[in-house]
Amino acid sequence: MRRISPVLQQDGVEPELIALLKTILAACREISFRVSQGELAGVLGSTLGENIQGETQKKLDVIANELLKEVILETGVVKAISSEEEDHIVAGNPQGKYLVTFDPLDGSSNTDINSLIGTIFSILPADPAKAPDDASLFLQPGTAQVAAGYVLYGPSTMLALTTGHGTRLYTLDNTYGGFLLTGDQAAIPKYTTEFALNMSNQRFWQEPMQRYVADLLLGKTGPRGKNFNMRWIAAMVGDVHRVLCRGGIFAYPRDTKDSTKPDKLRLMYEANPMSFLVEQAGGISSTGYERIMEIIPTDIHQRVAVILGSKHEVETCIGYHKA
Ligand code: F6P
Repeated sequence: MRRISPVLQQDGVEPELIALLKTILAACREISFRVSQGELAGVLGSTLGENIQGETQKKLDVIANELLKEVILETGVVKAISSEEEDHIVAGNPQGKYLVTFDPLDGSSNTDINSLIGTIFSILPADPAKAPDDASLFLQPGTAQVAAGYVLYGPSTMLALTTGHGTRLYTLDNTYGGFLLTGDQAAIPKYTTEFALNMSNQRFWQEPMQRYVADLLLGKTGPRGKNFNMRWIAAMVGDVHRVLCRGGIFAYPRDTKDSTKPDKLRLMYEANPMSFLVEQAGGISSTGYERIMEIIPTDIHQRVAVILGSKHEVETCIGYHKA
């Protein structure tokens, strides 16, 4: 089985970017170890604080955030980082070529039940003309990403990674101490009969999503003419991993449940990196109205509606938004 560096070298990825990715993955290996220790390491449960998103911070959120921040800034190739757990961007080397955004621990409420969680990251080019504390550095569309990935802390620790040469899956081999290629070129099947949605929000969705899901639920007896199955892990990283492995549609649509927060998922920390991975595996990713990776962000913590996965199914869903 192949290690990451030769695979990335073969794709022509810049040595500095390879080194940065390896540094991020070294931190994820450490997070993986702490996650696996669970209660034994005293890392479960909540802190007393909330993050900028108004969500309770888990101890592991804070530990993972600190670890990633420290090692990424030490590389010297990063101009600034932006984390879901930080109110503001953190400045790095003014000469750094890259920007890194990350969600240190996606789905962290799953830690309480020993279920799937993960780290999501995205790497963007840094504008040499801007200062490292200028948040506008990050206001680039997802199409500008030079790399994106997630590390899923599950029964095995897995990495999905893209640098724009397809999406590959790797598995952490603790005997060797690194990630080995276990799935070259993920290919999301075009058609699916599986959907992932928090159905408890159904009555708060916009009308197109209501109609689309109502037709899914009618199964063979409705206009879709086939039965669908539902799965919900409540950690985007777990649901998107399933989509990458066997197809499906994952959505967190806009809703009216909380008027201050119509969209749930974060554009820079979740939606853009996942969209890059999904598109590179042959799937598509949209808000229902536009391609997620083409959105020009106006705020580093901006949220967005997400509909992604198997090409034909996402296109069908987008069709309901046009009708
Ligand atoms: O980051 C937010 C998140 O935890 C996602 O990973 C996940 O898809 C979603 O929220 C779960 O939402 P809910 O709590 O509505 O099931």
